[in-house]
Amino acid sequence: MIIKKCELEKIIGLGNKIPDTKKMEFVLVGRSNVGKSSFINTFINRKNYARTSQTPGKTRTINYYNINDKFYFVDLPGYGYAKVSFDEQEKWSKFINKYLNTSKNIEEIIMLIDIRHKPSEKDISMWQWLLQVTGYEPIVIATKSDKLKKTEIMHNIKMIRDELLATSEAIIIPFSAMTRDGLKEIYEVIDKIMK
Ligand code: GTP
Ligand code: MG
Repeated sequence: MIIKKCELEKIIGLGNKIPDTKKMEFVLVGRSNVGKSSFINTFINRKNYARTSQTPGKTRTINYYNINDKFYFVDLPGYGYAKVSFDEQEKWSKFINKYLNTSKNIEEIIMLIDIRHKPSEKDISMWQWLLQVTGYEPIVIATKSDKLKKTEIMHNIKMIRDELLATSEAIIIPFSAMTRDGLKEIYEVIDKIMK
């Protein structure tokens, strides 16, 4: 895949109408700080186009990134950040649910999980819920692979698969926004889906 264009085209706040983009949507879900914005930056080969930060809970909107006028990455707000009030989290999870239930253009859901740790309870319930809503397993991108040794990467991928009760067909790709490990594979997966 060659990135010819990337544009943050729509920013949807809480309560706004979910747009009909009429293009394929690849949805990024994952807990706050897992590396969703960093993933987008690596994917489009830009340093800080999608804003990243040390402060979790930064992305508080649904952000639509137009890629090559072919598809969108839909960056959902991260879940499970303790310092965001319960009320606020509730409102957002309802809004995320609304997006997942109403958008007609969802082509694939990409779930990001930190490769270093066991999926949290929230990751597991999100996985199960997505399975239920869509009927198929999301693609998993296991982020921050630069923090582990090769052998640990293999081990933790298996751990993630086991903890999610994912099938052996589920795609789980180790990825690093720092070393770009896994990027080629992700391009291939998306190219294949778009064919
Ligand atoms: P929210 O917008 O809060 O939901 O977070 P996010 O999922 O968009 O995470 P973001 O991309 O902002 O990254 C959070 C932190 O993790 C930042 O400090 C990043 O530099 C760091 N980070 C993200 N990806 C990687 C990675 O692959 N390797 C390493 N070492 N750090 C990473
Ligand atoms: Mg973000």
